[in-house]
Amino acid sequence: MILKYVKRFAEILFFSSFFVDFYLENVYYRRKKFNFGGKKLTWTTEKRYRRYEDWTQEEIEQIKKNIEQSPWRATYHVEPKTGLLNDPNGFSYFNGKWVVFYQNFPFGAAHGLKCWVQLESEDLVHFKETGVRLLPDTELDSHGAYSGSAMEFNDQLFLFYTGNHRDENWVRHPYQIGALLDKNGQINKIDQVLIEQPADTTDHFRDPQIFNYRGQFYAIVGGQKLDKKGYIKLYKALDNDYRNWQVVGDLDYASDNTAYMIECPNLVFIDEQPVLLYCPQGLDKKVLSYDNIYPNTYKIGQAFDTKTATLIGPSPIKNLDYGFECYATQAFNAPDGRALAVSWLGLPDVDYPSDRFDHQGVFSLVKELSIKNGKLYQHPVNAITNLRDSEESLSNKNHTHNTYELELTLPAGQSHELVLFADENKEGLRIVFDLEKGQVLVDRSQAGEQYATKFGTSRSCDISPTDTTVNIFVDKSIFEIFINKGEKVFSGRVFPHENQSGIYVTKGAPSGKYYELVYGRKTN
Ligand code: FRU
Repeated sequence: MILKYVKRFAEILFFSSFFVDFYLENVYYRRKKFNFGGKKLTWTTEKRYRRYEDWTQEEIEQIKKNIEQSPWRATYHVEPKTGLLNDPNGFSYFNGKWVVFYQNFPFGAAHGLKCWVQLESEDLVHFKETGVRLLPDTELDSHGAYSGSAMEFNDQLFLFYTGNHRDENWVRHPYQIGALLDKNGQINKIDQVLIEQPADTTDHFRDPQIFNYRGQFYAIVGGQKLDKKGYIKLYKALDNDYRNWQVVGDLDYASDNTAYMIECPNLVFIDEQPVLLYCPQGLDKKVLSYDNIYPNTYKIGQAFDTKTATLIGPSPIKNLDYGFECYATQAFNAPDGRALAVSWLGLPDVDYPSDRFDHQGVFSLVKELSIKNGKLYQHPVNAITNLRDSEESLSNKNHTHNTYELELTLPAGQSHELVLFADENKEGLRIVFDLEKGQVLVDRSQAGEQYATKFGTSRSCDISPTDTTVNIFVDKSIFEIFINKGEKVFSGRVFPHENQSGIYVTKGAPSGKYYELVYGRKTN
């Protein structure tokens, strides 16, 4: 109210609201409404692709200092030390440990020159960063080490990835290339292109996933045909040699052919059933309803025919996650047979409030995939319960550390509503479980700083109107909601204001536990 009058007065003084708006946006809101500050940066192409060695120590220190001011850093989720994190890459088991890499632009929250940063874990919950492993430092990956996968061969981890190269005319050449990581963390890049861009494909051809199917190594690569249709190509390693790939064919998964590009395809097997996870860009919303800029989807097949490159009997396409953020999920079959997955809780072409603090993007928790009654389930690995510290019954709280898990039971026949990241007016992330109609709604329009609002501020999906269980994980600026042990999942970010850390039950009768989660206390 007061602000309105001040604005009016200032308008008269300056004869234009231009200066006022400029002041409000750049100074006032940043300091008051966005009570956490931070800085705004514009990213030119030149800056995004500046060589790593040209960033000065002073600039890097500035970035680190800015990140330290951020109120939104996670405690038990993987996030980048500095800059932008996007796809999970090279998720594998190697040298007695779980390994995963995050793709990173280290110099700010922008999609610039990408590298891979290695993480190791003993329990799939605690991850330790062990170093930058794929720098964009050769001709073949000069404009970024893009997404890919990993597999152990003879005591070395083979990294299969896309080298993004641009020539002097800025024309892109996507090379599917490889590197070997030894047990001491040394990288040896293989100095040859392992898979060339096919003649029928545009420069959008990337993200090789290597997998072992019945003792034979295969790879799938996402791409775009010359007629601008997204597709997936299947290759086979001749004599099981990861340097020698032969085309099998275009994967037939009964695609509706409406997407213009398929990113990050992954094929995993759950009790012999193939599950194809992929990110179709431009998918027709009549084929699948989704609100995010691009969805992360899947199909379950009945069998996999390697001769004809066919996913036999594929299910209809489904959303992997119904929330606001989930993309580039990487899944693989672990040596023990489990299908494990981890997602990027972020999206391409979206700006985030944390950008002001030079960081963007986090990983989801590691999820184990299973199939029950023909449906895909995703649930955090069991070791996540090791983070549980103090335990209480669910009750309203006007303040938490925003680092907790709720494990709740919701009786059928009524509606239940929870507000998380809530302020004293009970405004925050509103989650409604309507167990009369059988619907879940997640509304973040009152939760923290608003962003990406053109894609809508709420998400919903149908569930069966029966007694329902839910596990909700909250970590500073992240939420992951697993309904009925992972039958439906909503993941997303919320960038709460300073006073938004409460929990309120505003309707119905959910009951269950509140666990404070503490990272790094127990490791097994
Ligand atoms: C998906 C993606 C991949 C690509 C990488 C580049 O988010 O666009 O297709 O390899 O990111 O950073």
